[in-house]
Amino acid sequence: MASLQNSPLDHSILICVSTLLLSTVFGSCASDHTLSSRTVALFTFGDSTVDPGNNNYIKTIPENQAHYKPYGQNGFFQHPTGRFSDGRIIVDYIADYAKLPLIPPFLQPSADYTNGVNFASAGAGVLSETNQGLVIDLQTQLKNFEEVQKSLTEKFGEVKAKEVISEAVYFISIGSNDYMGGYLANPKMQEQYNPEQYVGMVIGNLTQAIQVLYGKGARKFAFLRLCPLGCLPAFRALNHKASGGDCFEAASALALAHNNALKTVLTSLEYMLKQFKYSTSNFYDWLQDRIDNPYKHGYKDGVNACCGTGPYGGIFTCGGTKEVKDYQLCENADDYVWWDSFHPTERIHEQLAKALWNGAPSSVGPYNLEELFSVDEEKLTIGYMVDDPEAQDHFSLLK
Ligand SMILES: *[C@@H]1O[C@H](CO)[C@@H](O)[C@H](O)[C@H]1NC(C)=O
Repeated sequence: MASLQNSPLDHSILICVSTLLLSTVFGSCASDHTLSSRTVALFTFGDSTVDPGNNNYIKTIPENQAHYKPYGQNGFFQHPTGRFSDGRIIVDYIADYAKLPLIPPFLQPSADYTNGVNFASAGAGVLSETNQGLVIDLQTQLKNFEEVQKSLTEKFGEVKAKEVISEAVYFISIGSNDYMGGYLANPKMQEQYNPEQYVGMVIGNLTQAIQVLYGKGARKFAFLRLCPLGCLPAFRALNHKASGGDCFEAASALALAHNNALKTVLTSLEYMLKQFKYSTSNFYDWLQDRIDNPYKHGYKDGVNACCGTGPYGGIFTCGGTKEVKDYQLCENADDYVWWDSFHPTERIHEQLAKALWNGAPSSVGPYNLEELFSVDEEKLTIGYMVDDPEAQDHFSLLK
């Protein structure tokens, strides 16, 4: 034992010994402690903030699709992909920082699920009533995850598939559509529920969804909270006559109430659910600061949409076959916070992804995404084994 304690391999040996008992087929412990066969995956659920093109494959209205110019115009992708941006979206950057390939939309034919898959659908809400029939709602996104889980089990076998599922990061960005189309533009819903009750219902269903994923083995979650919805160019335009274009407070108030409730829920889930780890951002203040002080962050305009028409570019038209077809396009999207009436530019997506990845604790916590993706010490003891020949020798000595 004494000689082993002097060996640089000690740590990996001890890890590997305990794991060999449980698993003899998968994984490896290289002598430098890196786990070369570790499979890392990113699963995404949500709405247009993270949809990489699932809506290209469903029947819906043109407002819920973005597979036409000028979407994707900045040339990162050869063609418009269905992303609601001039280029990439936040999860593209997260995948890149995690050294993963681009994660495909679930509905893309022959999508490879090995490193995860993206279930998000533009227009989707937490509640099934939100844009019903026009989107892949959260319940269906969860069902689609089951399918992927089955296919991973077929591909890797049960042990390894379980490990992939528990090591994966689950990125969830949803809720805005419940408050916009689902509530503020829906007088019937407003009659039935006051704002507080409605937020409770959205959060209740979101909590259930998190618990369902946890029940299927998910452990590492990342949440994008809601931005100041009332400051979307679309809402400023609505508010144009009444207030000269201030942000629409009722929408922002719903977003804040949602964010506060989600924060409370996450704190208690962390307490209740073993190994539940999460990352969340203060997206509301983060974006408000860029809207109010664009110059401070390298933008020139925090108010108007780069692509759109009417006041603030807030009338939703930006190519395709939407009701209003004429639109204006700004010269340089990088100068803008807002790409279209509802969605930020690629540049915002990139800045936000960086903040989530390893930004200051004031903008991301309790874990940042880099930490969530990194090897989990307690998991190390149950999933991996030696295949390094030198370490194998030491292992046989131990036996
Ligand atoms: C989930 O939403 C439905 C409406 O879609 C509502 O009737 C139900 O009470 C909500 N569940 C929770 C736990 O809040």
